[in-house]
Amino acid sequence: MYLLAIESSCDETSVALLDSPGNVIGCWTRSQIERHKKWGGVVPEVAARDHLAALDTLVRLALTESGIKLTEISAIGVTRGPGLIGALLVGVQYARTLAALQQIPVYGVNHLSGHIQAAEIEQEVAWPALALLVSGGHTLMVSANREGEYKKYAGTVDDAVGEAYDKVAKLLGLPYPGGPVVMKAAATGNASRFAFPRPLLHSGDGRISMSGLKTAVVRAARECGADALQSAIPDLCAGFQAAVSDVLAGKATFALQQMAEDGNPARSLLFTGGVAANQVLRARLQQVAVEHGLQWCVPSFEYCTDNAAMIGASACIRWQNGEPGDMDLEPLNRWSLG
Ligand code: KG4
Ligand code: ZN
Repeated sequence: MYLLAIESSCDETSVALLDSPGNVIGCWTRSQIERHKKWGGVVPEVAARDHLAALDTLVRLALTESGIKLTEISAIGVTRGPGLIGALLVGVQYARTLAALQQIPVYGVNHLSGHIQAAEIEQEVAWPALALLVSGGHTLMVSANREGEYKKYAGTVDDAVGEAYDKVAKLLGLPYPGGPVVMKAAATGNASRFAFPRPLLHSGDGRISMSGLKTAVVRAARECGADALQSAIPDLCAGFQAAVSDVLAGKATFALQQMAEDGNPARSLLFTGGVAANQVLRARLQQVAVEHGLQWCVPSFEYCTDNAAMIGASACIRWQNGEPGDMDLEPLNRWSLG
């Protein structure tokens, strides 16, 4: 008895097979990053077409490589949203069709709760957690419990942190996606050469903002001039990353205080989403967890970025609870947590 999971909300087509939330048989992911590179970001129409071309092949590959037969699949979990509507439609329609043919339940999963559930694939999380979900599309700090109930404590009012990394990379002439390249450049840079702002750090609320920081990086890059820009890139990246790090650590501390004031103190700090692949940010937020005596939970790299295993882990809980499926499931491009 296996559950087949499908993720197609953005630029990764991913398929996973699980037999329980913590037991991933395998996860097969095809990234479209190379396809979108020339535009410096994801083109929705291209993403949808590529999912259509890749999904069935990937499902067949998963079955062949795992040795699992289609008749042994007893449930399907698929990302219902939020995400690019055309991209989501491909996964949802595929899942519904296969579920109808095989007469098995299909569960629509929230992509964001999938990112949070990713933490439980490899370790037992001490709930409630403060979950920091930081990706190219989202920057969100929520309390999360085992039942999948969430309350938002902080979030971006403009760009997501991953998006800010991507935009900074683009303006410095670095390739897409910006996160890994900016992190690499920053490793050899001097973080204190440029005094970049920490927007809204002391606002006393959960608002996170990246736009003022991004503008400050643009201005500093311009002031360097074309000739000096190449050699200044590591310092610009290090300065930008240090500001992001301060902002995330500050807002996480704020959110932890708010959870405690609400009578629901966190027992763990969970960092997930594509940006959680960043080693500098990981180290900084781990320090916050240690200072507050919290369990530190971060999925391994493959489960931080978009993947179907996290969607499967979420769907498995509903499947194992014997919940009926959502046969008339339709995608939602917007779907907030809670
Ligand atoms: O979760 P994800 O795979 O896709 C969604 O946005 O849902 O996250 C992708 C984002 C991109 O913006 C990418 O630049 C960022 O995660 N990212 C990073 C790193 N690796 C990926 N950001 C900072 N440092 C990294 N090492
Ligand atoms: Zn994601």
